[in-house]
Amino acid sequence: MQTNSDVTQEVIEVLKQNDKTLFTLPADGLYPHQWLWDSCFVAIGLRHLDIDRAQTELKSLLRGQWSNGMLPHMIFNNSMLYAQDRNIWRSQLSPYAPDTVSTSGITQPPVLAEAVIQVGKKLKKPERRTWYLTMLPALIAYHQWLYTERDPRDSGLVLQVHPHETGLDSTPPWIDQLHRHHKPWWASFLESTKLINTVSLFRRDTRHVPPGQRMSNLDALLYYDVIRKLRNKHYDIHKILRKSSFAIQDLTYNSIFIRANGCLVEMAELVNAELPEELVSNMQKTRQVFEQLWDGYSSQYYSRNQRTNKLIREPSIATLMPLYAGHITKERAEQLVSLLHDQEVFGTNYPVASVPLTSKYFKPMSYWQGPTWINTNWLIVQGLERYGYKKEAEIIRLKSIELVRQHGSYEYFSPIDGSPAGAKNFSWTAALVLDFIKKCIINMRKLHLEKKNKHNRL
Ligand code: GLC
Repeated sequence: MQTNSDVTQEVIEVLKQNDKTLFTLPADGLYPHQWLWDSCFVAIGLRHLDIDRAQTELKSLLRGQWSNGMLPHMIFNNSMLYAQDRNIWRSQLSPYAPDTVSTSGITQPPVLAEAVIQVGKKLKKPERRTWYLTMLPALIAYHQWLYTERDPRDSGLVLQVHPHETGLDSTPPWIDQLHRHHKPWWASFLESTKLINTVSLFRRDTRHVPPGQRMSNLDALLYYDVIRKLRNKHYDIHKILRKSSFAIQDLTYNSIFIRANGCLVEMAELVNAELPEELVSNMQKTRQVFEQLWDGYSSQYYSRNQRTNKLIREPSIATLMPLYAGHITKERAEQLVSLLHDQEVFGTNYPVASVPLTSKYFKPMSYWQGPTWINTNWLIVQGLERYGYKKEAEIIRLKSIELVRQHGSYEYFSPIDGSPAGAKNFSWTAALVLDFIKKCIINMRKLHLEKKNKHNRL
């Protein structure tokens, strides 16, 4: 039986193996580039091992920042081997893309501000100030870009134009919209013939992972088609929105954005800086209008289609993300936590499933349509802690550690029996489990101290 210190050694080894000096690969082979939210989660773990390296991980993301403020979801490896990946996006078509590196043309959940704060917690105050001063201008530019480009109607909520922007690639609400609004005639034609199988030839993921654990060829093709459309518009949001059928105010994205805005305020306070007035008023508006995503009938929040203004009533892990946002009322939080307890919804043996058991999409090993992921567990745990659900948070932490102790740092796991799936030696699993172990140790020490004090008083 492995102990916590064996697991610690093992996850440190995974992070070392995937270390590329400036940044960490999500997993060797399957993911050969740098991803935005992956680096943020990795830095949250690395801060326990090497604070300079954790800072480098986050600073390296700024290499890819566009001059309009966007932080791209991928920064590509420059090797000739990956010319095809770069060519899919051709970021240089946009006048805002950097010249020195190739990137994708979309973003990912704005976890950077949280990661900067978490790394900052490990620094003494003067170094923390310097650290915040280094990162704050880029973060402000990014959040301003989100409001200017991604909230064209001043609704207060920001929109996403590709499922990859949510980080939850095959999540049901987006698959639902994809099939409803973005299924060209040729897709249905291909689907009805064997030709659809040829898509496998162009997929890296199904070469590394059993196809049953990934999205279907049809969905992969449709995702590519959305990229093609964005690329044809040179990533110009005005042109994209004029025609696009895909513009969704994603629940996970906006929940993370609310927390990230709070982190910006915290950083600005520490360094005595004033955030731009318009940004501050936009931030307040986001918190206020978030309630529009609440559906009274099912007592849940949902993503919203920005074109039709209709909620997309398809539950997923996003359902629990407002806990992480941290601004919803205690009553709402209680309603969400009850779903975690409910054995027919999210209350499985190895929580938290990326899709509730009640969903027609639920499949325990299928990418973002059932499996438990450690990064969403980490976000939910932060939310639970903030609302005072310490016991629930501890259970998720312990179960996550148990999964890695039993199987290693896999990309995702069955929420039913814990079977591992996806990529092996996956960096954010390793980094966040390390963070969970550190937190468990702190909690154990606290408990020990409390017991000792009680004993001394008697
Ligand atoms: C997958 C995940 C995405 C992640 C990427 C790299 O595409 O869905 O969230 O950033 O892999 O790990």
